[in-house]
Amino acid sequence: MEKTDSLWYKNAVFYELYVRGFYDSNGDGHGDLRGLMQKLDYLQELGVDCLWLLPIYPSPLKDDGYDIADYYSIHPDYGSLDDFRALLEAAHARGIRIIMDLVLNHTSDQHPWFQAARRRSPEQSEGGSDPASPYRDYYVWSDTDQKYRQARIIFVDTEKSNWTWDPVAGKYYWHRFYACQPDLNYDNPAVRAEIFNILRFWLDLGVDGFRADAVPYLFEREDTDCENLPETHAYLKQLRRFVDEHYPGRILLCEANQWPQDVRSYFGSGDEFHLAFHFPLMPRIFMAMQRADLTPIKWVLEQTPVIPDECQWCTFLRNHDELTLEMVTEEERQGLWQAYAPDPRMRLNLGIRRRLAPLFRDDRRKIELAYSLLFTLPGSPIIYYGDEIGMGDDLQLPDRNGVRTPMQWEDSPDAGFSTADILYAPVLNDRQYCPQRVNVAAQRADAGSLWHTLQKMIAIRKQYSALSCGNINWVDCGTSAVAVYQRACKGEQLLVINNLSAISQTVDCSLPPGITDGIRDIMTNQPANFTDGQLSLMLRPYEYRWLLLPMQKG
Ligand code: GLC
Repeated sequence: MEKTDSLWYKNAVFYELYVRGFYDSNGDGHGDLRGLMQKLDYLQELGVDCLWLLPIYPSPLKDDGYDIADYYSIHPDYGSLDDFRALLEAAHARGIRIIMDLVLNHTSDQHPWFQAARRRSPEQSEGGSDPASPYRDYYVWSDTDQKYRQARIIFVDTEKSNWTWDPVAGKYYWHRFYACQPDLNYDNPAVRAEIFNILRFWLDLGVDGFRADAVPYLFEREDTDCENLPETHAYLKQLRRFVDEHYPGRILLCEANQWPQDVRSYFGSGDEFHLAFHFPLMPRIFMAMQRADLTPIKWVLEQTPVIPDECQWCTFLRNHDELTLEMVTEEERQGLWQAYAPDPRMRLNLGIRRRLAPLFRDDRRKIELAYSLLFTLPGSPIIYYGDEIGMGDDLQLPDRNGVRTPMQWEDSPDAGFSTADILYAPVLNDRQYCPQRVNVAAQRADAGSLWHTLQKMIAIRKQYSALSCGNINWVDCGTSAVAVYQRACKGEQLLVINNLSAISQTVDCSLPPGITDGIRDIMTNQPANFTDGQLSLMLRPYEYRWLLLPMQKG
């Protein structure tokens, strides 16, 4: 792996991958690390630079691995540490990096730390702390459930409180997510030290970084909402310093579902996270397309503060969770629910539990347009596994499982995913999205498929640095139904035009001064006509154009 380019993440295309759902190499019905290894050629051909693996640690799987029972090994369904080493080596040999999920905020209630923390010594009186268990202080306990009342509940559909009574400990314990995920106590120096050990372990194995889960909630303080606290930032900066000192070139990606102004602080002055998800942009892409109006996108980007040069936003359309609508107003949420989740089964918490293709009713034009926005707006894009072929979802499955079904490789009933009779989750069997209709093999064989369009977008995105390092300048074209913007960097200039509407649009816009030579559409390789510094184009419904402007003269 080329170690010299320490800013590799600024121009990377990420691929979020659910190992259990990707490819089953040993026929037990669960995808595994050896299976993923067999599909690295596929990922290389798609052109992605970095895989983000959802949690692969031993876990009772009450939250699909975000409930970790052991930070130092691999869930047996997925394989062994040796398999993981082999995977890293094979990926690196292909120039593909791998980051993994790091769940800092909480463990599983099955983690030996929590089990030890609950126990009281026999001689101990009711409710007292256990002097024999140093682990008691690894978690956040209270005699009442009335502390930290300003902290919101995140999983509103399942949890009524952030406190749960533990009869063994005789106390309440604190948890921001499911009750089976007790929060670690970051006021305890021993906990803070444990996390450094975990980081060291995986970085020594060769991982290229971490997607740090749920970081806003590490510390708790009375009379605050217990999010984004200064103590949390101070600790995260220590983690970053550790990574920079010992593992330069490895990255930390921040998961904070917050407003851009709040997420801004997770970049520090370039000394906290390398990357952070841009949560509020995502629903606004869907909103803009539903309303045929660029205003929500423009507005949120205007609210987005400048970040240090060496930092980058991570942008996405969908992921393994519900499409979160936390970062929109109540009215906007109702509008998005009505448009994209008309059936109540499609809703979960404050979001929508559907994949990309069904969200757009499998309308290829809309799917491509959404990708066009993702690949040309500022930030490093992440693709969610299966969305490159327009996979569907399964509303019969509970929670977020419906967007985590087996990857559809072939048109066979088992989707070419596994030889087992019983799979961890059923292959999609509805008429529209079953493997007979949607699969990798068919799309790779068809030059006109979504897969090929995406492969092309990825290649082009990497070829033009204006798309990764350039600022965005909005260009007025007379209608807000068409999003037109310029991305420019190091003398390279692109003009991106997205028709957000269901009707054809004529676009007239002024070109930057000094353009005399030809303009080329880099997706189709066709020239675009213009006269006297004016570009005049006719766009079909949901059509998009990525235009390369010639270098300016003079
Ligand atoms: C993050 C993960 C989500 C998980 C939660 C608790 O939001 O994306 O899947 O349930 O953290 O760990």
